[in-house]
Amino acid sequence: MNQGELVKLADNILVLIRKKPKQVFEISTVARKLKSEIFDIHKAAKVLKTWGYGIKLSKSEITFNHTADTLSATEINFYLKTKIIGQNLVSFHSVKSTNDIASQVAGDYPDESVVITSEKQTLGRGRLGRSWHSPEKVGAYISIIITPKISLEKAPGLSVMTALAAAKTFESYCPGKVQIKWPNDILIGNRKVAGVLTELYTKNNKINYVVVGIGINVNQKPRDFPQNLRKFATSLRQVVGKKINRAELTAEFLNNFEKEYKKYQKNQLAGSLKRLRAYSSLLGQTITLKAGDKLLTGEAIDIDKTGALIVKVDGKKVTVSGGEVTVLKRP
Ligand code: BTN
Repeated sequence: MNQGELVKLADNILVLIRKKPKQVFEISTVARKLKSEIFDIHKAAKVLKTWGYGIKLSKSEITFNHTADTLSATEINFYLKTKIIGQNLVSFHSVKSTNDIASQVAGDYPDESVVITSEKQTLGRGRLGRSWHSPEKVGAYISIIITPKISLEKAPGLSVMTALAAAKTFESYCPGKVQIKWPNDILIGNRKVAGVLTELYTKNNKINYVVVGIGINVNQKPRDFPQNLRKFATSLRQVVGKKINRAELTAEFLNNFEKEYKKYQKNQLAGSLKRLRAYSSLLGQTITLKAGDKLLTGEAIDIDKTGALIVKVDGKKVTVSGGEVTVLKRP
């Protein structure tokens, strides 16, 4: 049995015993079910242990005791309830950027079931040419491929929709604390917990596919952030006070993303405005907004169904579909 086959067998054992923690399985039964040799089951079970799974193994029995802290496809799949998004999960240990891999995979035949995740990124990208600090084992780095049948002008709403799916996901870990800083930062206690990077790929001036990337700070301790980020970033663990299962969180985000995306395709964000307004950290604030080389200052008063921010500038309403916001005054 080669390494690839061994890994596949380890995965299959997991699928079988993962659902019933603490239950003792006869190795001979597992071998029969997986059409394998008992010797290979032993070898594959040892592989599972090296992945961090709590597996009790004797000559004739195997028991699943506890899960591993891993963002593997098998682990995410265990919690995934989607119909399409993420049904083709590809999980890496280390990549430069999951957005780049997603775009390469999408190629000429983009498929909405493909999601790329990685344990770490060596060149994680943020918005506006910034980098995204992506250390191993503590974050979740996820890229989703979608092929929305919408015109280019409507695309900025996709980032807002993704931020909404993320906010909804985090809400269940720390109710009442999550905010969205339009268009695509998710904050807790005014510090950034996740960011969205949406990249459009066009063909003949139409959307061919979109890669929606999200980086989530899940289990970072303050010292896991570089000094210059410590004041501005936080992690779910720091807020909740305990370590969070990254695979479960990733699956929950994908479950929520699929729901929001379905709604978005029907009627953009029309049905989500109430929730968006409630999550917004900007409404009612005096802000400065930089969009390209334009700079405007005014009061953020609303978000519309395209995901655009409505700002009152010198008594006039201005609609902006994207940009970098700084809050000037807090009431
Ligand atoms: C931002 O706030 O500037 C956006 C950050 C987006 C980071 C994610 S991590 C997964 C995906 N791959 C990347 O290289 N970037 C996005």
